[in-house]
Parts: sequence; C-alpha cells; structure tokens
Amino acid sequence: MKGDGKGEAAGGGASTPAPATEEKKPEGGEADKGGASATAPTGGTAEEGKALADQNQCMMCHGQDLKGGAAPSLAGVVDKLKPEGVAEVLKNGRGGMPALGAGWSDQQMSSMIEYLKTVK
Ligand code: HEC
Repeated sequence: MKGDGKGEAAGGGASTPAPATEEKKPEGGEADKGGASATAPTGGTAEEGKALADQNQCMMCHGQDLKGGAAPSLAGVVDKLKPEGVAEVLKNGRGGMPALGAGWSDQQMSSMIEYLKTVK
C-alpha cells in the first residue's frame, strides 16, 4: 500500500492509522443548492418509513393518513418534489416544516421516501 499523505513522513514511535478519507460520489450531481447537500438515498423500506413517521409525529401536522391536516397533504409529494426535494425539505426544513430529518441516516431517509410514495 502506498501512503498518500503529502510529505507527512511518520516520525517516531506512534504510528497513526491512515485517516479515513470520505469519498463522496456525485450522483446525478445537479443539486447544487447551498446548505446540506440533499441527495436521495435508496435501500430503505416503506415499513421502516412508517415507523419513523410515527416516531416523528408527521401525522400530528399532516393528518392521520398524511393526507392533509394543519400542514399540506403529502399524497404524491415524492412525484411533486422528487426524492431529492423531499430529502431536502426533511433535512433542512421549510417554512412551518421542522427539519425533522436532519439527523436521520441515509437508510432512514430512504425509508421515509419509500413510505411517502405509498401515500396516495
Ligand atoms: C410541526 C408540524 C409538522 C410536522 C410535525 C411535520 N410537518 Fe411536514 N410540513 C409542515 C408544514 C407547515 C409544511 C409546509 C411548509 C411550507 O409551506 O413551506 C410541511 C411540508 C412538508 C413537505 C413538503 C410538502 C410539499 O408539498 O412541498 C414534506 C415532504 C413534509 N412536510 C414531510 C413531513 C414528514 C415526513 C414529517 C414527519 C417526519 C413531517 N413533515 C412532519 C409541518 C409539519
């Protein structure tokens, strides 16, 4: 293996493990808005998304079936905003919508998107 450190020769006793460089692959990279980069992860399940919706009380604002309450209906929202747009709203919030998804894993975000696809 070849070290890729730029002139950082390891001197002395303590050898530190190579830093894990996080490589981000731009996927469909058109999303170039400021703030947290909203990508649309995949691999989640609608079941997990529903559980997440329960935990985060989406129903409290969006209505029992997420078809509208104090907040707008989420039926067809994935078609409307596209998965990236939904992820962005959930991560960054928007208007009266809290940034509930800010701390979610990709898996959880994906699951929520899968679940929202079932709201029709
Ligand atoms: C505190 C009330 C509240 C909660 C809880 C809430 N929302 Fe919202 N949400 C809103 C409001 C209000 C809007 C409209 C924001 C706007 O007008 O910009 C919104 C908008 C959205 C949108 C964009 C809708 C569109 O047509 O553009 C999505 C997607 C969304 N919420 C998903 C969720 C999900 C998923 C949850 C649960 C994890 C959730 N919301 C929980 C209040 C809430």
